[in-house]
Amino acid sequence: MSTAESNLPPRIRVIPPGPRSLALARRLRAVESRNVTFVSDEFPIFWRKARGSNVWDTDGNRYVDLTAGFAVAGAGHRNPRVVTALRHQLARLLHGMGDVHPPEVKVRLLERIAAISPFSDTRTILANTGSEAIEAALKTARLRTGKPGVIAFTGAYHGLTYGALAATDRDLFRVPFEDQLNPHVVRAPYPNPFRPPPEVDGTDNIGAVALAEVQRFLDGPGGDNIGCVIIEPVQGRGGDVVPPSGFLPGLAELCRARDVVLVFDEIYCGLGRTGYMFACEHEGVVPDLLCIGTALSGALPIAACLGPADILDSWPESTGEAKHTSTFLGNPLACAAAIAALDEIERLALPARAREEGARFIGRLQVLADRHACIGEIRGRGLMIGPALVRDPATREPDAELARRLITGALRRGWRLLAGGPEGNVISLSPPLTISRALLDSSVRMLDELFGEASAGSSSAAG
Ligand SMILES: Cc1ncc(COP(=O)(O)O)c(C=O)c1O
Repeated sequence: MSTAESNLPPRIRVIPPGPRSLALARRLRAVESRNVTFVSDEFPIFWRKARGSNVWDTDGNRYVDLTAGFAVAGAGHRNPRVVTALRHQLARLLHGMGDVHPPEVKVRLLERIAAISPFSDTRTILANTGSEAIEAALKTARLRTGKPGVIAFTGAYHGLTYGALAATDRDLFRVPFEDQLNPHVVRAPYPNPFRPPPEVDGTDNIGAVALAEVQRFLDGPGGDNIGCVIIEPVQGRGGDVVPPSGFLPGLAELCRARDVVLVFDEIYCGLGRTGYMFACEHEGVVPDLLCIGTALSGALPIAACLGPADILDSWPESTGEAKHTSTFLGNPLACAAAIAALDEIERLALPARAREEGARFIGRLQVLADRHACIGEIRGRGLMIGPALVRDPATREPDAELARRLITGALRRGWRLLAGGPEGNVISLSPPLTISRALLDSSVRMLDELFGEASAGSSSAAG
């Protein structure tokens, strides 16, 4: 497949959602729990096929997916080499017994992960979802230290299974289940330079303030009970927030000095997305445990928690019953897809591509920010970028309504976007790392037009 074939411009045949999508939405509402899929007059479109940067809906519209389907399609949707690997695997074995008689392909994937890992003697626990990889990390930290306490951060998203949810910071997800969550989790402020906590005045070093808060937890009452610090080196669903430089090394230092396990959740930001294979490489920090997911297979559900043997060996040797496993652990199809996706990330030098194209894209978006007052900030790293929309640049009050309108407007023009950030005011841009420069440039023009229309709309409404 040529680059051009996998990077086609949008083509809208019928205003989305078209009649087929609307009909499917009605059928879906009749059979799926109403909590799952958001259905309105404007959402959703139903995907029919995808390739590279493009997704087609059931009404024949072709979109450019600026989200890579939740950052999954890092090496492009339906990457041909991933498809070939899946075909080979399909012809041989679909299911193995992950922790009893494992499929051979599981060994090859674990070796492949060890080859890219930042640790020298890597051990890995495979998982089916990102949340499960986080569970594995939290359990490993507990076994290693014997301490139940966890420090997590404001704005964090680590998944929605109970262990992960306790570390996630979003009332929407937590409040209904609060009384069943691990009570040993405390929350330190994630250093978000754009939204400093109220007690930080403009002259304070926000990274130092956040570190001081972590230190207060570690050294204060109950600090002896804390065995784990879990953090996203760049926050994803929290709104593409990059911590100030020096913060992650400082955090690592605090943890090392106290024998606290530092977990980096790179499920969203890892595997090339921010411009290096792992986001922690920007600051040369190696955590104790690293969780990866989304782009790991680019297609099938698989994730992993990895670390050095010294830490993973906190788990006892299996004597026939694994203490932590699941029926589909090391599923052969997912393993085969993951090996091919990792090969593609390396073969196409996607981390370097994310670094170069991301820097250029951020530069072009910055020009938009200078032109449109509703863009409070362009934040992000590599091809993980989030324009944060505000009602007023002075107060920085988030404008989720504008983000919603923009996302709908973009969809109608054939561009898939997602809202991010706790307030839903960030336009999360995480395109496939294989996206062409031409498409990134046209997306800037599309956003420019939409922002222009939005300001014309609001000034005429004001007038
Ligand atoms: C940083 C991070 N951690 C964990 C998860 C949870 O992964 P999953 O949805 O596969 O359970 C996500 C999902 O978006 C994520 O972005």
